[in-house]
Amino acid sequence: MKNWVRVCTTTELLPGEHTVAWDGDTAIVVFNYDGDFYALEDRCSHEDFELSAGSFDADEATIECALHGAKFDVRDGRVLCAPAYLPVPKFPVKVEDGAVWTCDDRG
Ligand code: FES
Repeated sequence: MKNWVRVCTTTELLPGEHTVAWDGDTAIVVFNYDGDFYALEDRCSHEDFELSAGSFDADEATIECALHGAKFDVRDGRVLCAPAYLPVPKFPVKVEDGAVWTCDDRG
């Protein structure tokens, strides 16, 4: 069974915004892309650096790492350009009771 972590209310995370939540030791960056919520591990797959420090392009649904410029699709974590070559883990998101929830479901 998943232990869902409450991120924020839906009104606190508007389209084009992102925020960070923690599930235990796992930092999770949660995006509102065009009214839908997506969650990725807040850790660039290139080096250990927080993706949430980068810029979220809410038109393209991408996050660009602030350290060396790798880009990822916020909807599924796939890598779009070097210097990263591996995807970022994607986590589940649900909206319930007016709030956004996520969890690290890797067991
Ligand atoms: S740490 Fe993200 S591109 Fe290098």
